[in-house]
Order: sequence, then structure tokens, then C-alpha cells
Amino acid sequence: MSSIPVVVAGITGKTGEAVAKTIQHTTGLRLVAGIAKNHAGEHLGARWSDPDLDLSICRDIEAVEPLDYAVLVDFTEAASAFERLQWAIVHQWDMVVGTTGFTAEHRQQLTRLVERYQVGLALIANFSVGAWLLEKVAVEASYFFNVAEIVEEHHESKRDRPSGTARRMQGLLADSWRRSPDDIPVHSIRLPGLIAHQTVVFGAQGQVLSFRHDVHDRSAYAPGVIQAIQKVHALRGRLVDDLGVILDRD
Ligand SMILES: NC(=O)c1ccc[n+]([C@@H]2O[C@H](COP(=O)([O-])OP(=O)(O)OC[C@H]3O[C@@H](n4cnc5c(N)ncnc54)[C@H](OP(=O)(O)O)[C@@H]3O)[C@@H](O)[C@H]2O)c1
Repeated sequence: MSSIPVVVAGITGKTGEAVAKTIQHTTGLRLVAGIAKNHAGEHLGARWSDPDLDLSICRDIEAVEPLDYAVLVDFTEAASAFERLQWAIVHQWDMVVGTTGFTAEHRQQLTRLVERYQVGLALIANFSVGAWLLEKVAVEASYFFNVAEIVEEHHESKRDRPSGTARRMQGLLADSWRRSPDDIPVHSIRLPGLIAHQTVVFGAQGQVLSFRHDVHDRSAYAPGVIQAIQKVHALRGRLVDDLGVILDRD
């Protein structure tokens, strides 16, 4: 079977670089292009000290060498990603997206477009299995507790606030309790020394129950991203936002 060509947008970023290096060393996947903003034009092989890697970083998706098909992996920021995803959809590429900060309107439009063009979109707020398990245990706890608050802590350069992971947790608890997501408070902390951490604290008479997940290294996201790349073509016509679908545990 031929390998899957993969284009990584955000290849010079903290997460995109970790993910792209794993893609490069995964059998069955082929890193064919990288996209970035300020580092566009740089040679990726030189940047990674890899003489076997002969790729220049593109300014955006239109500048990538023409490809009949690829999977677009995106870890950038929402505004430019939204434009890039529309390009990928029209060109019949499947997409694995970790970028957060999309609006509800963005998501509605993307849902309509993937259905119309019959491409797959895995739009996952957090690709780490630990964050997904935190969702599962928190939803289980929501059957027994009826009030909670979320604390999300990230590095100081994170743009969106609250995080996509916290917004998703808000939505899951709100669905379980049939309330508005705004009724579940989120506390956001941005400090150097942090990477990505989330705590869900449930309270009831006489007791408190806390669940916490910590990412200490961005390699935590790579296995989920790799599995999503391998499966996204089978999601044709769908926007999937639950990592459980990718892990076959939905
Ligand atoms: N879903 C998940 O599991 C997960 C995990 C971690 C992070 N994230 C999300 O992933 C995104 C990136 O996070 P990060 O911490 O890796 O950010 P980062 O270190 O700031 O990296 C951002 C990357 O995007 C590129 N970029 C920014 N604006 C661009 C544009 N207009 N066109 C093309 N490329 C552009 C940057 O290129 P230059 O370096 O050249 O400027 C850089 O490569 C955020 O939305 C974050 O919330 C998701």
C-alpha cells in the first residue's frame, strides 16, 4: 500500500514540530510539506539538522507543490486555519486539526462543507489520551455530582482563553446536566513553566472530587494525531470532534 502524504501547517510551532517529527518517522506516512508564517522560506532539513530532509517551509497551502491528495494536519491559529481548511476541503484533502479557537459559526460552516465535498475532518481539541479519559471520568462523575468548576492552566503564549479542551469539557458537563455551558465556570491561568493542564473539581455536601490531567511534553499529542491521520479518510462527510471515534472507543 502506498504511504499517506501529509502536509503539516504550523510545522515550526511547539506542537506542530513535535507532531511532524513523529509523522516523519512513522511507517506508512510521508511528510511532504510544511507550512508556517514567520519561518516560511526556511529549509526544514537545516532547521532540524537532518541532511536527508529536503523540504522548504511554505508560506501557505497554495504554495505547496500540487498534490492530488494529502492529509492536512493543522496546529496554527483559528483565523488562518479556517481559510486553509476551506482550501483543503475544496481540493478533496482530508484534515486532522488540533488548532483551537474556532467559533461556533466556523464549525457549522466546516460541518456543511465536509458533508458537501465528502471529505473527512478530525477536529479534536485535545489529542492526548489522558485528556480524553478525563472527559470520560468527568461525565461519569456528573451523574453523581451536580456542580463543578474547571481550571485550565497553559503556557503564557497560548492565544485562546478558555482553552478548546476546557470549552469541550464545559459542553460535555452542560449536556449531561441539561444546562448552559456558561453555568460551568472556567478559570484560565497563563504562566511560564506550564504546558497544558486541566482540573475538573466537583463539589457536594461534605466532599470534593478533583480529576486532573497534565501534559509535560507535547509528544503526548502525537499518537492520537497519527491514528487520526490513518483513519480520517474513513470519516468522509463527517466532522468528528471526539478522540474516542479515532481510538474506536466512542
Ligand atoms: N488539539 C490538541 O491536542 C492541541 C495540542 C496543543 C496545541 N493545540 C493548539 O494548536 C495550536 C498551535 O499551538 P502551539 O502551542 O503549537 O503554537 P505555536 O508554538 O505558537 O505555533 C504556531 C505555528 O503556527 C504557525 N502559524 C501561525 N500563524 C500562521 C499563519 N497565519 N499561517 C501559517 N502558519 C501560521 C507558526 O508559524 P511561525 O513559527 O513561522 O510563526 C507556528 O508554526 C493552538 O491553537 C493550540 O491551542 C492543540
